[in-house]
Amino acid sequence: MKEDTRKIGEDYNDAGPEVSDLDHPKIHKGLVGLYVDESLITYIDGINGKLYYRGYPVKELCENSTFEEVAYLLIYGKLPSNSEFNAFKDLLIKERNIPDNIISILKSFPRNTTRIELLRTAISALSLYDPDDYDYTEPANIRKGLRIVAKMPTLLAFAHRIQTNLPLVEPSEDLSHSANYYYMMTGNKPSKDFEEAYDDVLICHADHSINSSTFSCRVTVSTLSDIYSGITSAIGTLRGPLHGGANEAVMKYMVNEIKRKERVIPWAEKKLARKEKIMGFGHRVYKTWDPRAVILRDIAMNFFKKAQNGELIDKIPNNGHNIHDEVDYIVEMTEILNDYMIKTKQIYPNVDLFSAGLLHTLGIPTASFTPLFAASRSAGWVAHAIEQLKDNKLIRPRLRYIGKLDKKYAKIEER
Ligand SMILES: CC(C)(COP(=O)(O)OP(=O)(O)OC[C@H]1O[C@@H](n2cnc3c(N)ncnc32)[C@H](O)[C@@H]1OP(=O)(O)O)[C@@H](O)C(=O)NCCC(=O)NCCS
Repeated sequence: MKEDTRKIGEDYNDAGPEVSDLDHPKIHKGLVGLYVDESLITYIDGINGKLYYRGYPVKELCENSTFEEVAYLLIYGKLPSNSEFNAFKDLLIKERNIPDNIISILKSFPRNTTRIELLRTAISALSLYDPDDYDYTEPANIRKGLRIVAKMPTLLAFAHRIQTNLPLVEPSEDLSHSANYYYMMTGNKPSKDFEEAYDDVLICHADHSINSSTFSCRVTVSTLSDIYSGITSAIGTLRGPLHGGANEAVMKYMVNEIKRKERVIPWAEKKLARKEKIMGFGHRVYKTWDPRAVILRDIAMNFFKKAQNGELIDKIPNNGHNIHDEVDYIVEMTEILNDYMIKTKQIYPNVDLFSAGLLHTLGIPTASFTPLFAASRSAGWVAHAIEQLKDNKLIRPRLRYIGKLDKKYAKIEER
């Protein structure tokens, strides 16, 4: 860091001179470890590897709840009664459809557009058709938020089917959120086992306190912009491989680079020697096992055993050939990599390592991994947008300027 030679009065930051700014303020690069507000939504215990939504352990929610119930819990702050839950589920079902104009724009995008970009653009466009678009009250924000949660799977399933030249499957009015999601993607109703596993994936991704995308969402709504803009910002932020894009990145290195169990360790050694990050490991808050990784790992193992015993229909889209002719089971390779990273580097896996293997085993196309994360996280984003606006303070940190000041301006012809 260069020495700051300015004197008081020479600072020209927008808030005017500040002694602390000139006096070498502490820089919190990446905002590591900083608390920016208080929250009643999610608690992460990074030392002991625990995660709670509204005070309930996520493991217990996975064992007993559905995604819809968890979405209700996150957004309204309490578990629903029976009648509240039924009304909530009906509302989500009623809101599953998307306007024809949005389907038209999905069809008009280049075929190789990533699905997370499709989602980001479609959510932004969807605000134009929302009857509450210019109503910024809390009840209207909740209505808009629930429409977003309800419509995301439809957008994603439609995007998948358009990109793979398949006819669209209209949302079902009978299936749960997770079963309907799968149904719209594949045209088939899932088994109970599958529905439950998929539900757990959605629950595990539903919120994670002030992660980067949620921070984006809160920053956007803190300007009193609208909730669609908040969620559009969040999707753009989630897309990066250091955040939600990690699950797709895991799948890509497993399938395109590692391929075989015996190559896992040499591959990892090379990556680490080059000081490259291995996606699916490490976390800003967890310094031990990510509890979501533990939950998804168990489920992936169960499905893997079924696949080995021939009890699982191979749902992997294979274009006429079996992927396992060229690539070993992702779940097995994941175990080897995980063991190696913990033993040699003491770097623990995060949710993305195991969601990749599980989603692959469940037959979800890799291109849909990150969008699926976004669809789950939409419940958390909505909850955070509502919480931010309840007691809003514009989120606007500062950057310490370290360049020169009062440079002599030269006209263009003199440069
Ligand atoms: C998530 C992540 C961005 C957190 O980053 P962070 O809190 O800024 O921590 P850092 O990147 O500073 O990592 C601290 C140390 O661990 C190492 N490390 C962290 N994650 C690593 C990974 N996935 N592979 C290899 N080394 C890793 C760093 O190289 C660094 O080592 P150093 O101190 O010797 O330089 C980081 O762990 C990462 O890039 N992981 C891979 C992407 C991923 O899986 N993201 C999904 C998160 S849910």
